[in-house]
Amino acid sequence: MSLSPEPAKSPPALKSLKEGGTVEPVREILWGSAAGARKYETAEELPGDMRKLVVKLMVVQADTEFASIQQHRPWLDSAPTLEDRWIESRIIADEARHGLQACRILRDFGEEGQRYIDELLRKREGEHKLDAFNMKFDRWSDVGAFTCFVDRVGVYQLRAFQECSYGPLARAMPLMLSEEQLHLNFGLSVLRRMVQDGPQYCGTKHEAQEAVTKWYPRALDMFGHSHSETSRRAIEYGLKRWTNEEARDRFVHEVQGLMTQVGLELPPVDFDRRVL
Ligand SMILES: [Fe+2]
Ligand SMILES: [Fe+2]
Repeated sequence: MSLSPEPAKSPPALKSLKEGGTVEPVREILWGSAAGARKYETAEELPGDMRKLVVKLMVVQADTEFASIQQHRPWLDSAPTLEDRWIESRIIADEARHGLQACRILRDFGEEGQRYIDELLRKREGEHKLDAFNMKFDRWSDVGAFTCFVDRVGVYQLRAFQECSYGPLARAMPLMLSEEQLHLNFGLSVLRRMVQDGPQYCGTKHEAQEAVTKWYPRALDMFGHSHSETSRRAIEYGLKRWTNEEARDRFVHEVQGLMTQVGLELPPVDFDRRVL
């Protein structure tokens, strides 16, 4: 299916955006009701409702970054190979930087932003907003499936912000996207190695399949409710490019192809879902 927003919301300039590719920064708003105007550059100039939405989106973003550090941490010195331990340390450092980046955007919102940052830094395991970030990585296969699916959803969310109408957020995207790419490639390679090499690497194909069945529904939930009013407003404000259901459909299509290559099966899209 096409992920292009409806024509009324999507000026032709948007078509020059390449997903995941390098894009020259642009100064004007590319889609939504203010398309063609200059991007918003400071928190003060954001219209009230849009300001609330940016804060909400950044709080969720930062929460996922800090949560995944807590999830990965036990594997820093127990991942199966030295290379895997090194990549775990890279992922933890990247997620810390992403959390910092989201908090820097929140800081621009003064006392309100700082209150949210203080709350975020107090959150412990099990207290996070999204279910996928409250689950422990009990086995190495959890690390593989989480980074393959959950980080991939993260990339879809970041791509949705690419060249968005809030300049400070748009400018944070290229580096975050390139770092996230490492995480999801790593996740897929962990699953592939479990299938191909089994116990010689770590675990079994059966274990990898169990992890896919466990994490895929949580990843699908992360896109949020279909026909959500918030996602419609985010497009109208030029903050996000796609509705929740458009991004989710695209993700499903992508991971179907990847799992076929690796020799694993996805459960049906409505299996074990909590957010529809
Ligand atoms: Fe991240
Ligand atoms: Fe990540």
